[in-house]
Amino acid sequence: MKNIDKNEKASPHVLPVLPYADNALEPVISANTLHFHYGKHHQAYVDNLNKLIAGTEFANLPLEKIITETADKPDKKTIFNNAAQTWNHTFYWRSLQPQGGGEPAAVLKKKIEASFGSLDACKKELATAAMAQFGSGWVWLVSDGAKLKVVKTGNADVPITSGLKALLTIDVWEHAYYLDYQNRRADYVNAVLDKLINWDFAAANLR
Ligand SMILES: [Fe+2]
Repeated sequence: MKNIDKNEKASPHVLPVLPYADNALEPVISANTLHFHYGKHHQAYVDNLNKLIAGTEFANLPLEKIITETADKPDKKTIFNNAAQTWNHTFYWRSLQPQGGGEPAAVLKKKIEASFGSLDACKKELATAAMAQFGSGWVWLVSDGAKLKVVKTGNADVPITSGLKALLTIDVWEHAYYLDYQNRRADYVNAVLDKLINWDFAAANLR
């Protein structure tokens, strides 16, 4: 998918342009949250990554390659964290859209029903996984061969390092919701699933 190609570029990595205005996700996610989450946190991951890889063997690698090459290497943990967080956030912004939610298109909907029983059951599993993630992390809809699954990852971890194909994600770090929801992670996740989740992006990633 074309949008994801921005994630494939080698150094210097750049903060991708948000696919909507910073107030376009209101009232579910405020412009204030986007100002900090995209403008400060995501930008910092990109800036840190560029500093960390300058002059190293990773300087000219595409982002996904940096992630897979540094995963499970304790001495490269800081590079992994910043590379993965750069990738995760770009993927998260594309997993949301103004007037999202609703029903996925037929092909994805059928796959969801085959894997979870119903769209509601899939959403419930995403919400349950989001609540079960202790501390910071991510919840993902992934495809694992013919089947769709929900997985959660801690901190910067990302399913592509386990050979799973990510279809969409929800950020459950506190910085994603604290300004708008304080500690009410479930309210944030359910509002995102009902009003912002971008099923078109998930369907495009199936291909
Ligand atoms: Fe985040």
